[in-house]
Amino acid sequence: MQTISTLSELCAMRASLTGIAGLVPTMGALHQGHLSLVSRAKLECCWVGVSIFVNPTQFGPGEDFQSYPRNLAADLELLAHSGVDAVWTPAAGLMYPSGYQTWVSVDQVSLPLEGKFRPGHFRGVATVVAKLFNAFRPDKAYFGQKDAQQVAVIKRMVLDLNYPIDIVVCPIVREPDGLAMSSRNAYLNAAERKAATVLYRALGEARRRYDAGERNADQLRASMRSILQEEPLAREEYVSAADPVSLIELEKVRECVLLSLAVKIGKTRLIDNIVL
Ligand code: PAJ
Repeated sequence: MQTISTLSELCAMRASLTGIAGLVPTMGALHQGHLSLVSRAKLECCWVGVSIFVNPTQFGPGEDFQSYPRNLAADLELLAHSGVDAVWTPAAGLMYPSGYQTWVSVDQVSLPLEGKFRPGHFRGVATVVAKLFNAFRPDKAYFGQKDAQQVAVIKRMVLDLNYPIDIVVCPIVREPDGLAMSSRNAYLNAAERKAATVLYRALGEARRRYDAGERNADQLRASMRSILQEEPLAREEYVSAADPVSLIELEKVRECVLLSLAVKIGKTRLIDNIVL
């Protein structure tokens, strides 16, 4: 496994590759969720690269950029064991040279849900992912369903900017009690960790209602809310039953619905979703 930090090294390596190249963009603090993306990429690509870059522009003021978990040595160890060909760890000054002023902004699909609570977040995500795509020129790029709106934003950007890249979406990897794996779970104390299972329980309740024939989206949202309200440590930011592509809230579920929620447990903000 090669560890690369400069753009010239990355370009030289890319030029030497033949066959399908896969990219897994990450911010590090790797867990089984990230590794599931790597495994899928390994199955489908001749060559797999992982980027590790805690992207400052996708964190808002007052968010956790400074405290975001960073452990490059542990990440490299995990990746070496998972058969990755190269890891790119660009410095912030390479991604955002002094005087930086060029942005990728995906309009409508960035606005609701996460976009409402984290203004500017998806501009940072779209910009850094575009830059990673430009640097790696992958044939396939791997993203987790965990960040459902991020997937919608990236798919829209790939269409709009004509990137010849296949976006592969991988299922959410969960802890045994249902909590979606996330680098931010490390912030939770024991009581909060227990309370955090409420997100998946809320989604499960809506799924039960759906399976029983409920198609009224207000009812599905209310069923998630009722479970969240039972957990004193949980504060809802949003619950949503939306179209999975446009992210527009539904009144009635006709074909497919993305049920998603964002909840604060103590100071930690967690998100989760299911598609029915
Ligand atoms: P990060 O949070 O490190 O996640 C990297 C990728 O792993 C994302 O595509 C995310 O959806 C996926 N992932 C995280 N937890 C997962 C889980 N439990 N199951 C399956 N996949 C999971 O998302 C980002 O970084 C950044 O926004 C990035 C795209 C790298 C741009 O900076």
